[in-house]
Amino acid sequence: MTNVTEIAPDVYRISTYNENYKLQFNQFLVKDDEPLLFHTGMKADFPHIREAVARIIDPATIRWLSFSHFESDECGSLNEWLRAPRWTLKDETVNTGKYRFRLYPTHHLPHSWDAGMLFEETNRILFCSDLFLHGGDVEPLNETDVIGRARKAMVDFQATQLLNATPYTVHTERLMRELGSLKPRTLAIMHGSSFRGDGEKAFLGLASVMKEVLGKDEQ
Ligand SMILES: [Fe+2]
Ligand SMILES: [Fe+2]
Repeated sequence: MTNVTEIAPDVYRISTYNENYKLQFNQFLVKDDEPLLFHTGMKADFPHIREAVARIIDPATIRWLSFSHFESDECGSLNEWLRAPRWTLKDETVNTGKYRFRLYPTHHLPHSWDAGMLFEETNRILFCSDLFLHGGDVEPLNETDVIGRARKAMVDFQATQLLNATPYTVHTERLMRELGSLKPRTLAIMHGSSFRGDGEKAFLGLASVMKEVLGKDEQ
């Protein structure tokens, strides 16, 4: 079952709960003159994600595809969506009509060398991929506790085969501070509820949780 919720003006969260992982997998569609999809979802999920997009717009009108890094949930169905690709570069803004996007390189954050985060500057929405991941079939939008949930998931993951999925590097703290300084008002989170509130505070809070949970040396 795929749910669609408008979490910010013209930003639709397309959410599918995976019972095996006990985790939501979310894509975000931004409705504008040139519609944009952040995260394509896995290849096998393409038919029902496309169907969910079709509840909002004609999927053939999607003009921009964006994703944080090269993994199956972030971009597995890229080929299914692609027609005429045009790559965007660092420092390039993309205007889709009412909205303006910029992609920030965030190497190894949340993971993978190629990682990046997409920021919509008009409504200050940060599409932050696996950062703030938390489990459960949770509500679309949360305005209270994002750090507590993310901390719990981070600690829990350290006891599974997904431990250290987010590497803690010499760049982590600076990148988290820089992302926070964008002062996002909405965090469009890939796994779990989106968050509306003080995005800078949330980033600083998550940075200290990451240092505490991921930044210690394991014997
Ligand atoms: Fe990922
Ligand atoms: Fe992911």
